[in-house]
Amino acid sequence: MPTTMPKLNQPQTLSVIALIAAFLTGSVALNGCSITEEIKQIQKVQRAHDIQERARTEDLTGEQVYMRSCNTCHSKHGPAPLLDKLSEHFPDDEGLKKFIRQGKGLMPAQPASALNDKELDNLVNYLRNLNT
Ligand code: HEC
Repeated sequence: MPTTMPKLNQPQTLSVIALIAAFLTGSVALNGCSITEEIKQIQKVQRAHDIQERARTEDLTGEQVYMRSCNTCHSKHGPAPLLDKLSEHFPDDEGLKKFIRQGKGLMPAQPASALNDKELDNLVNYLRNLNT
């Protein structure tokens, strides 16, 4: 029995080529689509991150920063000392800022990612006027 491949006639050859072409364009299109989806997803995450970042480092007033980050501990019934001896303990603003940036013991550090320089200025102004 002869084992030759069956010969395709011309219309059959054309349909095979059409099939392969359809498969290739289809997969390219699909691929393109999933890359677009991925980019969209990445942009979405990036946007959410930007929003979060802005919310965190928006230029808050000294009072807002204090209420958000300090008041829980530094209030009458909190575990931290009242901030009524600041002029005694920190006669200059630079020393006070350095202390706030670094934190100490239980007191958390306040890096620039949590408190920008302007907010730190606002906070120090607020603290200076707290007991006057
Ligand atoms: C988790 C609690 C906690 C938070 C929140 C906190 N602190 Fe403190 N803070 C402390 C403790 C405890 C000390 C005492 C540290 C020590 O001397 O060991 C302290 C000490 C201080 C001192 C020194 C006081 C002095 O008279 O010597 C300053 C100034 C200060 N904190 C400012 C701040 C500011 C400003 C914020 C907000 C950005 C803040 N703290 C947030 C717990 C906290």
